[in-house]
Amino acid sequence: MSVIVVIDDEQRQRNILKTILQDTGYEVHTASSAEEGLKIIEDILPDVVITDLKMSGMSGVQMLDHLPEGSVRPAVIISTAFGTVSSAVEAMKKGAFDYLTKPLDKDVIILTVAKAVERMNLLKENIRLKDELFGRFKIEGIVGKSDGMKAALDIVKKVADTPVTVLVQGESGTGKELVARAIHYNSQRKSAPFIAINCAAIPDNLIESELFGYEPGAFTGATHRKIGLFEASSTGTLFLDEIGDLPLLTQTKILRVLQDKEIRRIGGKESIKVDVRIVAATNKDLEKEVAAGRFREDLFYRLKVVTVNLPPLRDRKEDIPELASFFLGKYNKEFGRRVKAVSDSAVKAMIEYHWPGNIRQLESVVERAILMADTDSITLDDIKSELRLPSEKASIPMDLPDEGINFEELEKELIKKAMSKSNNVAAKAARLLGMSYKTFWYRLEKFGMHISSKEEAAPEKRS
Ligand SMILES: Nc1ncnc2c1ncn2[C@@H]1O[C@H](COP(=O)(O)OP(=O)(O)OP(=O)(O)O)[C@@H](O)[C@H]1O
Ligand SMILES: [Mg+2]
Repeated sequence: MSVIVVIDDEQRQRNILKTILQDTGYEVHTASSAEEGLKIIEDILPDVVITDLKMSGMSGVQMLDHLPEGSVRPAVIISTAFGTVSSAVEAMKKGAFDYLTKPLDKDVIILTVAKAVERMNLLKENIRLKDELFGRFKIEGIVGKSDGMKAALDIVKKVADTPVTVLVQGESGTGKELVARAIHYNSQRKSAPFIAINCAAIPDNLIESELFGYEPGAFTGATHRKIGLFEASSTGTLFLDEIGDLPLLTQTKILRVLQDKEIRRIGGKESIKVDVRIVAATNKDLEKEVAAGRFREDLFYRLKVVTVNLPPLRDRKEDIPELASFFLGKYNKEFGRRVKAVSDSAVKAMIEYHWPGNIRQLESVVERAILMADTDSITLDDIKSELRLPSEKASIPMDLPDEGINFEELEKELIKKAMSKSNNVAAKAARLLGMSYKTFWYRLEKFGMHISSKEEAAPEKRS
């Protein structure tokens, strides 16, 4: 139930408002002065306050300055005699929500309060969502007790709430973006934007417009002003993902922003101050990139002051059981499943596996296994094919003879092997060869190798 405080030095007015609002279904408290009202407000944190404008002692407008500081301040409605509407408007400039004129009209009161309550509910919902978001990026929510992860998270904790630039290094899928977000959401900047840009995904000729923006006429096609990401993320955090892929010239410009804390839009004459915290990430060895002349040494030294190294999953296998059960929880929730555990044999296989795609790959293996699981735990069978494929693909199981090979014969041979290994079940054979069912079926037909059996139907007819 929404809670309302009514403040008026005239008892009759208080009673009218109290009766109407209580009848409408609100919980109503009353006070006969702004001072008394403020005390009640501090204690019960109401959603809405209706206060008279002119009272002996503190006025309704003065009261606005004394409302308790906090994330959700109550919406204040000023009630005022007809002649003093201009002061009520003044009060709205100071943050009041709306005003009512006396004599009070029942319908207007109900409508105005309903609007105020609605706004408060939206504000609260907004805050709840934000809290949930911040909760997701709590440093404690990052899984990993291995020495490597502990060392990394230790640095993250120490530097998150400082302005320093952070470089996050790690192979693909090791959690670089997760760490970058954790840094942002554990800093004072958390309510300002976190903006991520993948430097490797943007063509060289567009990257500077993206980062710095431009003025109209800066180049053909620049018809309007564009605000770049440095400006857009002002007071927040800019995540420069894959920074190792930035063109050298852009690297120079980034270095200048880090030093001077100002940018210039392309085609712009003035420098604009920006208050941005930079977190950069790379899966390249920047030292090697520097040696090869592809990365500026001065930028490298500037970035690497605080480096967070995320070790590959194969070097922190002790984290695998906890990660697997973390993702189990996550995807059970998402898919409404109740898969309780990962079986011992499946965990063992996960620990033995080399995880070229790191945590992202582990996450998708668990996600798929939850969907596939026939029992209430993930078994070795549920993950087997996923874990084998990449390693089998990675190595060619034979030598290429000098005289060359007959590719078609080889293909037929592989198909035969796959079919016999999977007891002539084409879907399984296709999986063994890393092919879609349709592609495999097409090859069977092409080579006239199709075995008609009851459980196999042409893929078109299946769907
Ligand atoms: N320590 C961890 N605990 C829980 N989840 C993690 C952890 N590390 C990574 N993840 C999850 O793994 C997935 C991949 O992580 P992320 O995108 O941060 O990796 P990345 O290093 O940025 O990868 P890429 O280089 O491919 O962009 C995300 O869904 C992330 O939430
Ligand atoms: Mg990433």
